[in-house]
Amino acid sequence: MAYKTEGTDRETMKIKNIFVTGASGKIGRSLLPELVSRGCRIRALEFEEPVECKGVEIMKGDVRDPNLAKKALQDMDAVIHLANCKENRELFMEANIKGTFYLLDEAKNCPHIQQFIQAGSDARAGVFFYPHPFPIDETYPHSAYPGYYAFSKVLEEVMCEQYMIQYKLPITILRFSWVHDEDDFLAHITLREPDFGIPIWKELAKTPEQKKYFEKDIDAIAKLIHPGGKPGIRHIVGIKDAVKSVLLALGNSSAIGHAFTITGPSPFSYGFAAEYISKKLNLPIVEFEYDGFHDFTHNIAKARSILGYDPEHDVAKIIDSAIEFRKSGKQRHPTKYIG
Ligand SMILES: NC(=O)c1ccc[n+]([C@@H]2O[C@H](COP(=O)([O-])OP(=O)(O)OC[C@H]3O[C@@H](n4cnc5c(N)ncnc54)[C@H](O)[C@@H]3O)[C@@H](O)[C@H]2O)c1
Repeated sequence: MAYKTEGTDRETMKIKNIFVTGASGKIGRSLLPELVSRGCRIRALEFEEPVECKGVEIMKGDVRDPNLAKKALQDMDAVIHLANCKENRELFMEANIKGTFYLLDEAKNCPHIQQFIQAGSDARAGVFFYPHPFPIDETYPHSAYPGYYAFSKVLEEVMCEQYMIQYKLPITILRFSWVHDEDDFLAHITLREPDFGIPIWKELAKTPEQKKYFEKDIDAIAKLIHPGGKPGIRHIVGIKDAVKSVLLALGNSSAIGHAFTITGPSPFSYGFAAEYISKKLNLPIVEFEYDGFHDFTHNIAKARSILGYDPEHDVAKIIDSAIEFRKSGKQRHPTKYIG
């Protein structure tokens, strides 16, 4: 997607003052210190969970409040919109759709806003839910998998696309794939709770051998396989690469009017991941057949060429970080969204 925004007076980008929503969330809490260390002045929206970054201006508020945007965008050069509620039928229209609309609609009245960065998601392309026989790129049509979260990621993007067309709003959409921080990968691939991500292994346990692990609370590593035995393939991103993409897009005039796929340097196979962790943690591997999973990979050529995005964290590095996090004894942030 590329929408012309030329003709506005927004070509010279000098971004210092940034309004960040979702500042205490997974991406926000890693992004904020990086922005502060680059000398940005941050107004961070705090909602429910505290924003823990030093050196930022905290603004308490709710994106559902129609009066928030006017105050929040005052004196700001850019918006990084990360706030989002997950699989919640009651809230998603109000928080994700109306919340994004209020910000976009105010930004269109603010010539001082030089860039609006919208957090998109590969959920908008349906990833593992539909067959993707070729790498997914930015031209792939919106095709969310069932659920309100994925639906909201499409609707948010459609609103952004229209604000670019109708008002030449200088928007950049970063379509993150599944972001891994802390011990997320182990939470996903080991059988013990917490469960994180689709599929939920317990629901796939059919044989007495598979069920034994859950009944006796024996930990093991799940290897997702297709009928016939081929390991599943998916494409995820480490938190450091996700944050890097925001920093590369911010203030980059070539990024205006574009959506970018943001993921790791390469896809991974559950076969490789299971073997790698098994050797490191000395845990057994249990195969789970899942016929609802379709392999998918992303094409990040556009982010590489326009943003200079060069992700470093492949699945081995993501696993190493997850193991290190567990060994440190730190408490992981609660899992809000399984998928
Ligand atoms: N984490 C991922 O794997 C992933 C993948 C693709 C896209 N994304 C997108 O990136 C963005 C950030 O994701 P995340 O993982 O950091 O999310 P998160 O769930 O960790 O954090 C969401 C943030 O939004 C805030 N929020 C929720 N409702 C709000 C409201 N009504 N008013 C104000 N703030 C509110 C929460 O307080 C929290 O700080 C989201 O748009 C998400 O869809 C995330």
